[in-house]
Amino acid sequence: MIGLHRIEGYAIVSADGMIADADGDMPDAIRNEADQRFLQTEMDRAAALVHGRHSHEGGPRAARRKRIIVTRQIAAVAPDPANANALLWNPAGATIEQAIAALGIGDGTIAIIGGTDVFGLFLSLYDAFHLTRADRAVIPHGRPLFPGVGADMALEDVLARHGLRPGPQRNLDAAAGITLATWQRSRG
Ligand SMILES: NC(=O)c1ccc[n+]([C@@H]2O[C@H](COP(=O)([O-])OP(=O)(O)OC[C@H]3O[C@@H](n4cnc5c(N)ncnc54)[C@H](OP(=O)(O)O)[C@@H]3O)[C@@H](O)[C@H]2O)c1
Repeated sequence: MIGLHRIEGYAIVSADGMIADADGDMPDAIRNEADQRFLQTEMDRAAALVHGRHSHEGGPRAARRKRIIVTRQIAAVAPDPANANALLWNPAGATIEQAIAALGIGDGTIAIIGGTDVFGLFLSLYDAFHLTRADRAVIPHGRPLFPGVGADMALEDVLARHGLRPGPQRNLDAAAGITLATWQRSRG
């Protein structure tokens, strides 16, 4: 939690724990319509989104959503001249609490949607992490879900080390081998 805000992460990963290829593009092998429907519904109920400058949830309702865009192009926080619903935030110059206050939102969930470094910034804060798996895809030399994930470090170990436990796995698209499990912070 941050104040009254729940912090929830959302990602779709390949079997080897990657969110994008080496060039920073998301290959078709980890794009899935059922996952997009799930993501879009969740983004509609979030109070705000947080993502790096190269990430975006897309979809027809994106412009209406409040968002914090992580960037080193400003010193602390600043309005986004390109989007009245967006705030630019540099974590080196302002806390996430200050960024949320500057965005001016009410209670509700803050949705963290990547990429790698942004997912990593919130590891100790997630109340839940919604992990979609595209286990038929592998992305050699790709961008990992969290910094350091790869042959020597499984993303599940990173989530567990930060106090999250997996919930039941459900099929989002059985024909395509796409599953979803929500990891929750265990309290007490
Ligand atoms: N599979 C998935 O679920 C998923 C999720 C998210 C993204 N993706 C994909 O991953 C690719 C992009 O990933 P990415 O990791 O390169 O992009 P990203 O996090 O969206 O953007 C990187 C940029 O964000 C800013 N940034 C990141 N960490 C920062 C920090 N600690 N402090 C200040 N600024 C910071 C920097 O912006 P400045 O250059 O402006 O300083 C950096 O260049 C895209 O293809 C996207 O579609 C996939």
